[in-house]
Amino acid sequence: MASSPAATAETFNYTVVRQFAIMTVVWGIVGMLVGVVIAAQLLWPQLNLDIPWLTYGRLRPLHTNAVIFAFGGSALFAASYYVVQRTCQARLFCGKLAAFTFWGWQLVILSAAITLPLGITTSKEYAELEWPIDILITLVWVAYAIVFFGTIVKRRSKHIYVSNWFFGSYILTIAILHIVNNIEMPVSLWKSYSAYAGVQDAMVQWWYGHNAVGFFLTTSFLGMMYYFIPKQAERPIYSYRLSIVHFWALAFTYMWAGPHHLLYTSLPDWTQSLGMVFSLILLAPSWGGMINGIMTLSGAWHKLRTDPILKFMVVSLSFYGMSTFEGSMMSIRTVNALSHYTDWTIGHVHSGALGWVAMITFGMLYYLIPRLWGREKMYSTRLIEVHFWIATIGVVLYIAAMWIAGVMQGLMWRATEADGSLTYSFVESVKSTYPFYMIRLMGGALYFSGMLVMAYNVFKTVMGQTPVNPVIPLETNDPVRSIAASANA
Ligand code: HEM
Ligand code: HEM
Repeated sequence: MASSPAATAETFNYTVVRQFAIMTVVWGIVGMLVGVVIAAQLLWPQLNLDIPWLTYGRLRPLHTNAVIFAFGGSALFAASYYVVQRTCQARLFCGKLAAFTFWGWQLVILSAAITLPLGITTSKEYAELEWPIDILITLVWVAYAIVFFGTIVKRRSKHIYVSNWFFGSYILTIAILHIVNNIEMPVSLWKSYSAYAGVQDAMVQWWYGHNAVGFFLTTSFLGMMYYFIPKQAERPIYSYRLSIVHFWALAFTYMWAGPHHLLYTSLPDWTQSLGMVFSLILLAPSWGGMINGIMTLSGAWHKLRTDPILKFMVVSLSFYGMSTFEGSMMSIRTVNALSHYTDWTIGHVHSGALGWVAMITFGMLYYLIPRLWGREKMYSTRLIEVHFWIATIGVVLYIAAMWIAGVMQGLMWRATEADGSLTYSFVESVKSTYPFYMIRLMGGALYFSGMLVMAYNVFKTVMGQTPVNPVIPLETNDPVRSIAASANA
């Protein structure tokens, strides 16, 4: 169905998608810059300049909140709002509420950026924000759910495309996780105490923490993957049936794996075993999804030679495969005995975060930005290629350094002499880690400079040209839509 520009403009709400897309770039720069600063502080602690706001303990949660919720969150709002409209062939439900989610989310981020350096924190990892901000998050999230599911309800296409299942489950799950983990008793405007205590607190926290990884950093980005890879490759998903199996298997399995964060703690032994077993099972749906994404390129492999956007997407899937394999292995008790508390965990985190989450986001943005602003393509394909190589080298330096450092630390900590005394003091292990911290800093700085290259390319694309195609026509030969239609048949 071809439609006139005016009709299409009316059909879709791209304003909010554009806003979130730009803020993804902005928050990516801010969050990763803080990452580079704390990586440098681990080498040179005096970089905190003796100012409490700039101490490592305050900047670290600022980094994690900025990259996960500001950068990742904005990317997910942009992706889900775009995909749900395109695949449902319907304008976003309630434009005002959609605008509220944008401004509300920015306010949440701003509040985090002010309160965390001030030392205002619940001290629960990835849920550090204090209760007034928690309430704002809840309001924004409920609005998000209304806009997203409202659009599904008013859809014009019969089938609900698989990406929307992934997005829908992430929206619902994050709502439940956020509310349950943040049940707390306020004692003042900026201080509250958790409703849970002791081992129950730890259990609820890591049920939240793990599923925040599972749904905020994985399920949702798989929704992104299932739309943008077929679009960029101009091929239907390798197996639509497998994508549905992938969805249900992943959603069911993730929920049980949280206790792998609490191995060898006072958590009951059977819950630790349950967490370990489900983490091993989790490998199957994770790799099923990765294979489904990569095989979508069958018949289009040659495009990888010339298309850096596709390169970003395929490499991101490879990192997804690598980090999930690694995670499953780290969940085995004996492996975790070596990896826990070491930089191996940090390597695993960033193989998932830089390799999978950020790279699939870059691929999406390069696909989306020209279309949202009606340009033929990005300002410079060469700069996308440059970004791709800088980012790839950066992430490899980062994670390889952390793996070596992590295994070294684990082995040093457990080494004993014949009389049972420790071979190395803790400080010796810290000293031995310095060269690896330097390599990580270089990798991180490279990765960050790639973000700047992207920002320049995005700026030139948005500002530099006159629109060639102010609105996107509805594609008739859209591989995503045609596969959805055939799956529906
Ligand atoms: C230029 C890029 C980045 C650099 C240089 C960087 C650096 C760092 C550093 C130095 C830490 C603290 C490690 C420690 O405590 O030993 C850290 C933690 C963390 N970063 Fe990054 N980071 C970057 C990008 C990202 C991105 C894009 C994400 C997520 C999408 C991310 C997620 C995290 C998480 C979740 C942690 C906490 C890990 C844990 O507690 O185990 N980072 N990062
Ligand atoms: C099959 C999938 C996965 C499994 C089974 C898994 C398992 C694990 C395990 C065992 C740990 C270490 C826990 C510890 O010793 O403290 C861990 C930490 C972590 N993983 Fe994964 N992982 C998976 C995928 C991912 C992906 C794709 C990402 C990122 C996108 C990710 C992000 C993290 C983060 C942020 C942490 C650090 C949590 C913290 O202590 O602050 N994981 N994961």
